[in-house]
Amino acid sequence: MCRRKELNMLKLENIRKSYDNVTILDQINLEIEEGEIVSILGPSGCGKTTLLNMILGITDADSGKIEFQGEDLTDVPMEKRGFNIVFQDYALFPNLNVYSNITYGLRNKPQISTQKEVEELIDLLGLREHLYKRIDQLSGGQKQRVALARTMVMKPRILLLDEPLSALDGVIKESIKDRIKKIAREYQLTTIIVTHDPEEALTLSDKVLILNKGGIAQFGTPDEIVHHPKNPFVQDFILNQLEIKRNNIFTLFDRQPSERMPESVAC
Ligand SMILES: Nc1ncnc2c1ncn2[C@@H]1O[C@H](COP(=O)(O)OP(=O)(O)OP(=O)(O)O)[C@@H](O)[C@H]1O
Ligand SMILES: [Mg+2]
Repeated sequence: MCRRKELNMLKLENIRKSYDNVTILDQINLEIEEGEIVSILGPSGCGKTTLLNMILGITDADSGKIEFQGEDLTDVPMEKRGFNIVFQDYALFPNLNVYSNITYGLRNKPQISTQKEVEELIDLLGLREHLYKRIDQLSGGQKQRVALARTMVMKPRILLLDEPLSALDGVIKESIKDRIKKIAREYQLTTIIVTHDPEEALTLSDKVLILNKGGIAQFGTPDEIVHHPKNPFVQDFILNQLEIKRNNIFTLFDRQPSERMPESVAC
């Protein structure tokens, strides 16, 4: 058995965060394994970005502990954690072309990726034909892939993505989902993705973390969530939305839904 796989890559213990005396997150306990893709899902304002920022290290938790491969990172500053984030607005450098954006971080740390690795990433993300374009000559999906490449060449120990697909249309979204999966598998890269789209979360991830009212409503595999929703919130917020979507699609294609969703296991 592979020993590395047994390591808890990232462990959050009793994380608590409040702003202006209002509790945003409380008693967040979570273990994420190496190479897992985990989506964080929940209604607007439930604390998804806050949780991502605490993992990244740009926001401090009020209490609790963050461990990575057994090392306590709670008080380790962001730049020493070795994690990296792709922000929703990509934050690319408009004055540099695609290639210079991708390799920007390597200017001071050229040993992190070889030229061959950079070239492989460019091909994996389908960016070869765009390398010498300016950022404003790219589509949203292309910019997203440049932002991913720029982060990936730095070989982060964990890849964090804040709503990376929300601005993309269906076809591009599916192709980027596939690419994220491929990268995570190929590089055995632990990836945490914030989204508020249940379909995206359940089809992209190994595990889904559902947040509600400051706590974890459920953390499990897509299969567990779909077949064993732990409480009425998961049933209403996640499964009912999906069922409505499914029925809309059947209606559009003039067919009857063949079966109903399984009954929830409310607790
Ligand atoms: N710096 C801050 N100061 C005060 N309150 C904040 C701060 N950052 C976030 N909040 C509050 O914390 C709560 C959680 O915010 P957060 O950005 O984590 O939500 P979210 O789940 O990412 O929402 P969305 O889906 O809309 O992006 C919100 O009520 C927000 O107003
Ligand atoms: Mg957010």
